[in-house]
Amino acid sequence: MVSRVIPVEPFDLVIFGGTGDLARRKILPGLFRRFCAGQMPPEARIIGAARADMDGAAYREMVAGAMEEFGGGFTCEDKTLRAFLDRLDYLAIDARGDKGWAELQEKMKGKDRIEAYYFSVSPALFGDLAERLQKWGMADKDARIVVEKPFGRDLDTAKKLNGTLAAYFNEDQIYRIDHYLGKETVQNLMAVRFGNMLFEPLWNAQYVDHIQITVAETVGVGGRGEYYDKSGAMRDMVQNHLMQLLCLIAMEPPARFDPDAVRDEKLKVIRALDPVEPHHIVRGQYQAVPMDEADHPGYRTAVGDARSRTESFMALKVHLSNWRWAGTPFYLRTGKRMSARSSEITVVFKDTPHSIFGEEAGRHRNVLSIRLQPNEGITLGVTIKEPGPGGMRLIDVPLDMTFAEALAGEAGEQVDAYERLIMDVIRGNQTLFMRGDEVEAAWTWTDPIIQGWEARNDVPKPYDSGSDGPTDSDELLRREGRAWRGVAP
Ligand code: BG6
Repeated sequence: MVSRVIPVEPFDLVIFGGTGDLARRKILPGLFRRFCAGQMPPEARIIGAARADMDGAAYREMVAGAMEEFGGGFTCEDKTLRAFLDRLDYLAIDARGDKGWAELQEKMKGKDRIEAYYFSVSPALFGDLAERLQKWGMADKDARIVVEKPFGRDLDTAKKLNGTLAAYFNEDQIYRIDHYLGKETVQNLMAVRFGNMLFEPLWNAQYVDHIQITVAETVGVGGRGEYYDKSGAMRDMVQNHLMQLLCLIAMEPPARFDPDAVRDEKLKVIRALDPVEPHHIVRGQYQAVPMDEADHPGYRTAVGDARSRTESFMALKVHLSNWRWAGTPFYLRTGKRMSARSSEITVVFKDTPHSIFGEEAGRHRNVLSIRLQPNEGITLGVTIKEPGPGGMRLIDVPLDMTFAEALAGEAGEQVDAYERLIMDVIRGNQTLFMRGDEVEAAWTWTDPIIQGWEARNDVPKPYDSGSDGPTDSDELLRREGRAWRGVAP
């Protein structure tokens, strides 16, 4: 299959926080890959803007280093790297003062091209940046701004942030990133659901016993302890990434694949979420295992607070009060320092109503697994007869479609979530970005859960690094005759 890379329109992308971690790890390597793929037009310009005093040459050198460190072995001809670096410029700028703004205005002046401003900075600076963009005449109605999570830490702060941005930009100019929406398999979720006749008629409480969403990581909090300890798994992962997955798996078919049609349906899912009962919530915190403590310190050591009550693991049972899903539980779980890196959504269908093969043949269920990472793909467990003589014994076998194998040679290049999302910003397509009301609805559901455990002075249950979380998480399903699908790939 010929790769269908369509170049985007010429653009100027200003990255505030252009020397920061996210810019070096994700944004710039992502842009470089798009440049190599021929999607970034040669006239495009990327302007890094940050506090540090340096010139364009020093910035280009820094970016070249970032490509090597975070490019994941991706290479492209040397002359292409040089051509990419030629597209880069840098400005020392003060988000809260006047320094650098006149120069930026000068650079952006009079060009007939798409303008995008990426706020890869602390949310505390979003308002300052938006205000200065307007003051210096760069907030015209075609400009786009890209903002990163965390988008608030509760409903109140999210509303304030939305209000601040709305003072300078219209909603159709604001691109709130949740990088999970840029993952290939997450989009495939929509293709599988709405591109096939097979699944949708069964996609409801009548046929589905329950749905599991697991996002397990092997990494700990690493160098992000200060941020993470103020957030925890609920704010860092559940309120956004897991919520988005839940929306896509549970939403009604939108009439069209366009930004508002899709986001309207997602919003309805969030609004249909029931409050969560305290006994349907499990919070955990990883601890070091003896002998491994030097390499992998426990959570409290990692964040430097021996009494921290922040969770690095969450498991929840949630319900949606709507016609499609009433009575079907959704189990969500996410954690750091778990046994394997694995993100998977599992749809467990109900038992057949009657077994014609007799009880000894056993009862079997169809299970649809959608693997987001690693080893992206879809597996459908079907029941067949165990081969050979000896009567009718049933076994479950997987109908497996690992994308890398199924599409070998045809899959085109692997596109990282950030690459896809940045190109969508340039194309002006907001489908894979969160709308302001979605974010607020997610906090409306999340806030009482957090307030509940704060009022109870809840202490997260310890779990061993390298395990699958506290035993209470298994218990959450076991008491209902269910079990988590294994994390190990
Ligand atoms: C980020 C969280 O949004 O997502 C991190 O802040 C987490 O804590 C990361 O590690 C996970 O992303 P991915 O793409 O590696 O699954």
